[in-house]
Amino acid sequence: MNKIRVMTVFGTRPEGIKMAPIIKVMENTSEIENIICITAQHRRMLDQVLNLFQIEPDYDLNIFKPGQSLTEITVRALEGLEEVIIKVKPHVLLVQGDTSTVFAGALAAFYQKVKIGHVEAGLRSGNLYSPYPEEANRKLTGILADYHFAPTKTNRDNLLKEGYPGDRIFITGNTVIDALQYAIKKDYVFNLPLLNQLDYNNKKIILLTSHRRENIGKPMENIFSAINEIALKYEDVEIVFPIHLNPKVREIANRIFDGNPRVHLIEPLDYEPFTNLMAKSYLVVTDSGGLQEEAPSLGKPVLVVRRETERPEGIEAGTAKLVGTDFENIFNEMDILIRDKREYEKMANAVNPYGDGKASERIVDIILRYGLK
Ligand code: UD1
Ligand code: UDP
Repeated sequence: MNKIRVMTVFGTRPEGIKMAPIIKVMENTSEIENIICITAQHRRMLDQVLNLFQIEPDYDLNIFKPGQSLTEITVRALEGLEEVIIKVKPHVLLVQGDTSTVFAGALAAFYQKVKIGHVEAGLRSGNLYSPYPEEANRKLTGILADYHFAPTKTNRDNLLKEGYPGDRIFITGNTVIDALQYAIKKDYVFNLPLLNQLDYNNKKIILLTSHRRENIGKPMENIFSAINEIALKYEDVEIVFPIHLNPKVREIANRIFDGNPRVHLIEPLDYEPFTNLMAKSYLVVTDSGGLQEEAPSLGKPVLVVRRETERPEGIEAGTAKLVGTDFENIFNEMDILIRDKREYEKMANAVNPYGDGKASERIVDIILRYGLK
């Protein structure tokens, strides 16, 4: 029997997390030969994910360089991938999401006339510069893709509006929910003592992440300043911020939160402690994409510190709120959720607009159906 040779390509932390459940299903599918190639656009933050999910890549392009530019990532990934694709000759190449690795992966596959499956297809903010460069990466990847795995109906509709044929767009749910099921544990014990010592019952623990390129500079200063003021105002509030390894983010965080005893700046957490921390926290403030999907399914209100989002489903479901990047609005919205129990309860509902945890199985089924055609 001819196996379908599927090459999965990924490079950053979120791609790794969302690709891992698909890899696990493919490992148990005898009709598929699964070849894993990482660009390692992220090094440390991706290795954390590989260790947790026990994924051993067949190819590691190791392109990471501190301070890498978008061009450097794209060029180094494209060059490295060409060689691997020519050697592996996959029937299908899978990419996930919207990073520069994703676009380079799709382009490299297209150049070799290899079919492309785009996982998490059809997300659109409507602004090419926000998130930057992700909105462009998604559109560019969409143009090249043969199979569009759309997490939600909204994502499918976006693709239909752009003229993609309906029979190549599959609503699958988001694999982020599949991954979450691996990670969340009752009575989870953290390796980091601080996280065991926090008083989750009597204090309001707020989880913060922020790393978006378009926020670096004044918007990020506004976000952190508003949160810093909130932590100074309320004695029962504590902020936990596992800071992204980007030195530009670190500089702003260290400067603005300096000396505030109720703000804990920590290293990026492994996925398992991170999601369990989210599950125990009171509120999430973030500009991340993945967190906007995880928090609603854990019943945690999310304030999205961005001007627009490509994930409107959490907002429509009432768990997420888009609060922009101005100091006043962020401060006021946080203030309401800390003071007003009714407003908080309105948002703290576990809803799951992003899937049922079976997205990976659906994606693999579709690959089995179309992979050799
Ligand atoms: C990238 C993606 C973004 C995604 C994010 C997830 C692009 C253009 N951006 O953004 O879509 O949301 O990953 O986190 O593809 N660094 C390290 N070690 C690491 C990772 C990063 O030191 O393991 C530092 C380096 O200084 C690096 C900087 O972070 O230069 C930025 O990393 P990069 O991959 O260029 O962009 P992200 O902002 O992480
Ligand atoms: N995450 C993690 N450790 C952290 C912060 C985030 O494991 O310290 C996980 C989080 O659960 C989510 C993913 O990383 O699944 C989100 O990645 P990120 O915010 O870097 O990228 P984005 O989703 O914005 O592309």
